[in-house]
Amino acid sequence: MKIVIFGGTGQLGSDFQRIAIASGLEVISCDLPEIDITAEAQVLDAVKHHSPDIVINAAAYTAVDKAEQESEIAYTVNRDGAKNCAIACQKVQIPLIHISTDYVFNGENTSPYIEADEVFPIGVYGQSKWEGEQAVRKVLEPHLIIRISWVFGFYGQNFVKTMQRLAREREDLNVVSDQVGCPTATRALSHALIKISRACIKNAGPWGTYHYSCAPPTNWYEFAQAIIEETRQYESLKINNVNPITTEKYPTPAKRPAYTAMDCTKIKRDYAIKQVSWKEELKQVVQELCKQ
Ligand SMILES: NC(=O)c1ccc[n+]([C@@H]2O[C@H](COP(=O)([O-])OP(=O)(O)OC[C@H]3O[C@@H](n4cnc5c(N)ncnc54)[C@H](OP(=O)(O)O)[C@@H]3O)[C@@H](O)[C@H]2O)c1
Repeated sequence: MKIVIFGGTGQLGSDFQRIAIASGLEVISCDLPEIDITAEAQVLDAVKHHSPDIVINAAAYTAVDKAEQESEIAYTVNRDGAKNCAIACQKVQIPLIHISTDYVFNGENTSPYIEADEVFPIGVYGQSKWEGEQAVRKVLEPHLIIRISWVFGFYGQNFVKTMQRLAREREDLNVVSDQVGCPTATRALSHALIKISRACIKNAGPWGTYHYSCAPPTNWYEFAQAIIEETRQYESLKINNVNPITTEKYPTPAKRPAYTAMDCTKIKRDYAIKQVSWKEELKQVVQELCKQ
């Protein structure tokens, strides 16, 4: 099976390539500066040239706070870029897996969101990703939109690396404890994407929108504590106290949804993808980061 992945040098794209190639798949990574997903012709040329069985779009404008100021670029990449991927797949008649986000929800739920729940993004990033989802649905029937949350892994910038750096530099750290969600490891997600790609090509679907994350739900404070605890297995850290604080005490340019745990029953039912423990995945990532 041959896969073209847009955003192949990002956090998810890099791990996906490593894992998919090790699983014997042919993976072609397309990223800036060579391929810009906002350029319709470039996307189509890449898809025609490589002639994959399936395309994954992991390219996105992911700077949640900066998006509030740079909304034009956020929409161009997350909405128009997603549409261009769908148009290219439609023209060569292949399926697209488009990666989306838990930030399409407003966070007012008190139990995990299902795919049919109404979306209500509260920031530019979430709104631009939602419009990207809609563009994909409109253009291409054989598509999968997979909403993921709180991504971490070995590659790129993420919360795990930020907490490790701060724990080396500081004695005290305040971390928000009133935002609940599910950290999702790029490794687990990559294995899920490989399994889904194989199955959806073989069975011609089922297509549609799915949720995927690791489990169980947690908050940023608990996640930070777990990261620090795990990192301490490998090195001594300066940090003495991690303190829970409210979102109100940590204002950011973009509002974040307070609760974005997602129900992953549908992806288990249709694609036999089980949720794995983010704590187990975290152990692997911290080990890899500390031993590099
Ligand atoms: N990170 C999270 O916590 C999180 C949570 C939920 C959902 N997601 C979604 O998961 C997916 C993967 O996220 P990630 O964390 O891997 O993001 P990432 O590390 O920011 O990677 C995104 C990649 O897309 C590339 N890109 C940006 N604009 C592009 C363009 N115009 N054309 C081609 N490539 C472009 C980036 O290149 P440059 O680095 O050169 O800009 C980068 O390589 C995205 O759809 C994101 O919305 C992420």
